[in-house]
Amino acid sequence: MHTIIETIKSIAFEIDQAIKTEDLGYSNSENSSGEDQLKLDVQSDLIIEKAFASVAVVKNLVSEEKEGVLELHAEGKYTICYDPLDGSSLVDVNLSVGSIFGIYEGVLKAQNLVASAYVVYGPRVELVIAQKSQKPMLYRVLNNAFKQIAEITMEKKGKLNAPGGTQQHWEKHHKILIDDLFAQGYRLRYSGGMVPDLHQIMLKGGGLFSYPGTSDKPEGKLRQLFEVIPFAFIYEQAGGEAIDDKGIRLMELVPKHPHDTSPCFFGSVYEIDVMKKAYGIEA
Ligand code: AHG
Repeated sequence: MHTIIETIKSIAFEIDQAIKTEDLGYSNSENSSGEDQLKLDVQSDLIIEKAFASVAVVKNLVSEEKEGVLELHAEGKYTICYDPLDGSSLVDVNLSVGSIFGIYEGVLKAQNLVASAYVVYGPRVELVIAQKSQKPMLYRVLNNAFKQIAEITMEKKGKLNAPGGTQQHWEKHHKILIDDLFAQGYRLRYSGGMVPDLHQIMLKGGGLFSYPGTSDKPEGKLRQLFEVIPFAFIYEQAGGEAIDDKGIRLMELVPKHPHDTSPCFFGSVYEIDVMKKAYGIEA
């Protein structure tokens, strides 16, 4: 695991450099979800593939930017599912973006996730790593190296509300939930990048990030293996909660396909309780 973590740190430096200096245009390709790929998406994917090619414990890679599984080392132990540059469409307006890594051992399902990590490329580069039975650890780049900063613990109740999905397509009970939180004084924080949005909520104590199922996307938008499960693990390790629209822990998800999505709610204990009431879920 140490080698994987050190590799993620070096990947973060390389992708950060690419974001700062490379062409921001589109490539001529689409990813497996049919979205146009930016050159930076393709390049970040390649940076990660090359970096893990020399890490023998990594058996397979599964990328948001590729269809299927790429075998690296037949004798390896872990499969790394990653979103190389989440929120990449925000780079051309100079907002923060991120990379997300889920490290699985065995069949690709939430219960087999053993560690996860994400990198935030913002005014500073930050890294959060969570491993079993440990609080997530925050690292920040200082003098060209990652320095360990602090363990992350969420408060029981926060102040921020990050409501994803097109409002026009929200279900009635979801609108009631979001309106209720604003009526309680919650403040809107939504950049359109789940990495900085979830990072902000976690570091500022708590709140709710939601990406629900909507009438046009009943299973939501965010991908289970690369986005939802890695963050669910981190939120739970920090003392928060992460559930789907039926109240089931996201850490119980079993994707049928690598690119399956799920409605998702990440928050502190209080806001998840408010969500359950709005959705008619037994506490
Ligand atoms: P992408 O990687 O295609 O830019 O998508 C970003 C993701 C996620 O980071 C964010 O929370 C969500 O999509 C935003 O979606 P909406 O634009 O629908 O709010």
